[in-house]
Amino acid sequence: MRKRSFMAATSDDELIERAKQARLAAHAPYSNFEVGAAILATDGRIFTGCNIENSTFGLTMCAERVAIFKAVSEGATEFLKVAIVADHTGITPPCGCCRQMIWEFATDDTEVILANLAGDIQKFEIKDLFPNAFDASFLQGVG
Ligand code: THU
Repeated sequence: MRKRSFMAATSDDELIERAKQARLAAHAPYSNFEVGAAILATDGRIFTGCNIENSTFGLTMCAERVAIFKAVSEGATEFLKVAIVADHTGITPPCGCCRQMIWEFATDDTEVILANLAGDIQKFEIKDLFPNAFDASFLQGVG
């Protein structure tokens, strides 16, 4: 059983704004698809990230994972909310790798907030975006 999160003071709009700001630093000269992410950790801290592409293409890193690496490397290992912003007519959902990574640090009710620059917003719980996940529970009692 994952720990339930507590209410945090940061509003969804504020977290979206932080993701929008983070997106401005995106290094996406190959796809021109710029993404920003902002994580609200259960300790109240916010960590942001942008996508970082590479001329080899395969080394490209999504905005969500950049934010996750920043959070975890600073000791924040439990996420309350993750906001993701892209400039698309629709809403951009996180890729499968990022869903797996968010799951690793999620609580029972971690929210994923998706937004675009037109002001459209959709909210999900990670457990609905990533059902039947593989996680640490499968590594117990092996062998
Ligand atoms: N991208 C993200 O940053 N997050 C996602 O969840 C989907 C894709 C980035 C990776 C790449 O730089 C660009 O968007 C196009 O795939």
